Amino acid sequence: MPKRIRKAVFPVAGLGTRFLPATKANPKEMLPVVDKPLIQYAAEEAVKAGIETLVFVIGRTKRSIPDHFDKAYELETELEASGKADRLREVRNIVPDDVACVYLRQSEALGLGHAVLCAEPIVGDEPFAVILADDLIDDSSGDGCTSQMVAQYDQQVSSIVGVQRVPTDQTHRYGVVSSESVTDRLSRINGMVEKPSPEEAPSNLGVVGRYILNPGIFKKLRQTRPDAGGEIQLTDAIRALMADEPVFAYEFEGTRYDCGNKLGYLQANVEYGLKHPEFGDEFAEYLRNR
Ligand code: G1P
Repeated sequence: MPKRIRKAVFPVAGLGTRFLPATKANPKEMLPVVDKPLIQYAAEEAVKAGIETLVFVIGRTKRSIPDHFDKAYELETELEASGKADRLREVRNIVPDDVACVYLRQSEALGLGHAVLCAEPIVGDEPFAVILADDLIDDSSGDGCTSQMVAQYDQQVSSIVGVQRVPTDQTHRYGVVSSESVTDRLSRINGMVEKPSPEEAPSNLGVVGRYILNPGIFKKLRQTRPDAGGEIQLTDAIRALMADEPVFAYEFEGTRYDCGNKLGYLQANVEYGLKHPEFGDEFAEYLRNR
């Protein structure tokens, strides 16, 4: 029996420079898409996949994420007193009571790989998920991208990286893999490069922010040297892990919005706005007539 995926790591310590000044005092993962911050979409996706412990690796703008997932007594009392039952339900049910939230501090901005390594004392010796909340993945017809990845893990019992086809002129924004096909959506990775130019890219399969990793990754992360920019890259550690065990790429189902850049973020707001139950139709009409 494969070990259950019980923990998800959310690296949320990035500087979010592309969204300044909005991210001056707030992590970019707290930016809302319509009415929910990105980190909440990510947490809900994890909970749907059966994750029991959410591990947030937070940085300098540290307060708003724990506050968001904490109980808000004053707010709840106010909403209760004014009879706003729907709003009360929304703030109470951000994560179910049986899901634990753990907050760790990444005190230096040493990259994604280092952020994941910070979570080792909590994750321990078991496979775990990594979710990058600025990659918002809408899988409204299914159970979410992380559920799909967990189902793949249960079959392969190997580390799995979420991928999608990206335009060839944009490979410099992604980790890019080369791989051998196993099934329709699954392939075994045989090469992986972080942010290659189109000429250097081994394919157009770009890594999107979802990973299921075996705990062997921690040893590899400890051995990974910082890149030219001084960051420890998760991609480099995964490549090292491939020398010891198979690693797979999974082309998930669903639409991904790159909320790490402004255009992707705006597109997500439009699409989630259009399907919003309260005002989606009105918003569609507004867009048609403007
Ligand atoms: C990170 C990873 C990269 C991956 C990307 C997905 O890069 O290093 O391999 O393709 O996330 O969003 P970042 O966007 O944090 O620079």
